[in-house]
Amino acid sequence: MEKIQIIWVLSLLLVFLARLPDGLATDNSCSVSTLDARRFFERENELLRQRYHEEYLASYTYNTNVTDDNRQAMIAVYARNAVQNKQLAQKIKSSDYHLSEDADIRRQALHLSKMGASALNTEDYLALQNAISSMQSNYATTNVCSYTNRSDCSLTLEPHIQERLSNSRDPAELAWYWREWYDKAGTSQKDNFAEYVRLTRKAAHLNDHRSYADYWVQFYEDADFERQLDASFKQLLPFYRQIHGYVRYRLRQHYGEDVVPAEGNIPMHLLGNMWAQSWNEVIDLFTPYPEKPFVDVKAEMVQQNYTVQKLFELGDQFFQSLGMRALPPSFWNLSLITRPDDRQVVCHASAWDFYQDSDVRIKMCTEVDMHYFFVVHHELGHIQYYLQYEQQPAVFRGAPNPGFHEAVGDVIALSVMSAKHLKSIGLTDNGRLDEKSRINELFKQALSKIVFLPFGYTMDKYRYAVFRNEIEEPQWNCGFWQMRSEYGGVEPPVSRTDKDFDPPAKYHIDADVEYLRYFAAHIFQFQFHKALCSLAGQYAPNDSRRTLDNCDIFGSKEAGRALSKFLSHGSSRHWKEVLQEFTGETEMDTSALLEYFDPLYQWLKQENSRLGVPLGWGETNKIPTDCCGQFST
Ligand SMILES: *[C@@H]1O[C@H](CO)[C@@H](O)[C@H](O)[C@H]1NC(C)=O
Ligand SMILES: *[C@@H]1O[C@H](CO)[C@@H](O)[C@H](O)[C@H]1NC(C)=O
Ligand SMILES: *[C@@H]1O[C@H](CO)[C@@H](O)[C@H](O)[C@H]1NC(C)=O
Ligand SMILES: *[C@@H]1O[C@H](CO)[C@@H](O)[C@H](O)[C@H]1NC(C)=O
Ligand SMILES: *[C@@H]1O[C@H](CO)[C@@H](O)[C@H](O)[C@H]1NC(C)=O
Repeated sequence: MEKIQIIWVLSLLLVFLARLPDGLATDNSCSVSTLDARRFFERENELLRQRYHEEYLASYTYNTNVTDDNRQAMIAVYARNAVQNKQLAQKIKSSDYHLSEDADIRRQALHLSKMGASALNTEDYLALQNAISSMQSNYATTNVCSYTNRSDCSLTLEPHIQERLSNSRDPAELAWYWREWYDKAGTSQKDNFAEYVRLTRKAAHLNDHRSYADYWVQFYEDADFERQLDASFKQLLPFYRQIHGYVRYRLRQHYGEDVVPAEGNIPMHLLGNMWAQSWNEVIDLFTPYPEKPFVDVKAEMVQQNYTVQKLFELGDQFFQSLGMRALPPSFWNLSLITRPDDRQVVCHASAWDFYQDSDVRIKMCTEVDMHYFFVVHHELGHIQYYLQYEQQPAVFRGAPNPGFHEAVGDVIALSVMSAKHLKSIGLTDNGRLDEKSRINELFKQALSKIVFLPFGYTMDKYRYAVFRNEIEEPQWNCGFWQMRSEYGGVEPPVSRTDKDFDPPAKYHIDADVEYLRYFAAHIFQFQFHKALCSLAGQYAPNDSRRTLDNCDIFGSKEAGRALSKFLSHGSSRHWKEVLQEFTGETEMDTSALLEYFDPLYQWLKQENSRLGVPLGWGETNKIPTDCCGQFST
């Protein structure tokens, strides 16, 4: 015992000595070393900010003008900065900053010593960025051939194909576009994806992670998060099964038994979205109370001469009504908010922080309709986050939990989409819904918010399995559809084999975007919503006039103050601490979401049982029967 203690004291002393600044022994050496550390991190954060600034400029140039020159220029900047990031991480790792008495320094040291892909040698790093950006370029430039004129091969996903998915009710036409897109955006990228998997695995190992999946999961700073993810999914599944059963039943009535099975997977091309991640575009096929029509918000917008600019102005006004930050003039000058016709752009909507002078921008190919009105708010949520944590050091200019960043705009949109708010901005004249209209509205919301969950869950469960080598490369494609079917009960319209490769048909898979953040955001946003609605006096438990689905926080300075405070921490503190300060909770929790939708859940259970609707689904027969093993949820 004695001996061990002496060794311990000695090593403490060594650490202590090592921390003394060069030749300067003072009585107050602890705080001197803390001051020193603060100066070190201040300097490094400024350099890091400059590197981010340079990277995002190069990346924005590429994203708003997809040429090979711009792609190469972007990769060159990334590669140069990766070397600097790696050196910084190594310097910190070999220092004792992580033992600092100052919690803020310890947290900076922890975050800045993560290298990610920068850990790779230059050749591998370049190869990885090349694989990712080649997939992105392919996604951005994929055009497909028209169903009605096969020699016209100039159709883009946004808006042409999406318009057909929303409005065509011809299964053959829908299957045509499905196949065109998956063949061209997906299969051609198999080699790039394989290279991506190989190199990210190498990077993960260099960072002492068992796999790239483990690297992604540690963003959540919670060893238990993956288990919680599975637990949340299980809690949501009974509700999803009711929606799925009801939709399949109604689709079968519309399309007939040759097109839609009574008990199996739903053919995904009928659901109004290329990935069947939301089904609300085709809600007219399965509206609970068809005699209670939805307000046609799009027609109203068109009639009132809404422009794309106006959608952004409304979003800006909402944040300002809460007392939060206005969009700076440079936002309006430098954003790209409609598709230009003189060049190729990455249309997938995104929000940008340039880490300098409040320079924040949005890049998206906006059109005037309800869907884009929602996306505008989603992206403006990112922008507001950027502005709120602007004063943080570069290392903390991010969300402490990736799900938080995706949830901010969605929370605002939950208010904006309420009948109460739509009435206040003159897009409907009915601000109070009767019971039937309320069920219709909740159902429409569920077709995006709930239907998304099995999809979001699959995106990363699938990639975890690939990264961890739990699915062998020859079975990457059938494994993808097997999981999509098992978790979500949907399947491709045509048989797919392992000669096809479909995952890159989704943007985030090409772009190396971790996806659990969206799943988490869909749950967190209802926790945030409940907290903000309480502060705004718009929600009270068991008060039928103040329910979560008819809450509009517009104009509430109390709500705005709480949200600003929550966002302004950036990632400087653990997400459980800032969540607790904001909502009183310390976990991702499905109860607010389930409360929001409870009237619909009760209605669906009754209606499905009244109609004798079967629930659940079996295995898909659109992939070879000898695919991979079972995955457990
Ligand atoms: C797009 O980038 C190319 C360089 O690859 C440049 O020559 C061209 O002028 C750019 N177009 C626009 C509209 O900025
Ligand atoms: C079909 O598309 C081609 C190529 O865009 C065009 O030249 C042709 O006129 C189109 N045919 C019809 C019938 O629209
Ligand atoms: C919309 O524009 C049309 C044509 O410019 C005009 O006649 C009409 O008054 C406008 N409507 C509104 C609500 O501003
Ligand atoms: C926005 O653009 C205008 C006109 O091009 C210019 O005069 C102004 O300085 C710009 N403002 C900002 C903030 O960039
Ligand atoms: C409010 O409703 C919850 C269930 O939703 C119930 O457990 C609770 O007892 C109710 N509280 C009051 C005060 O009625």
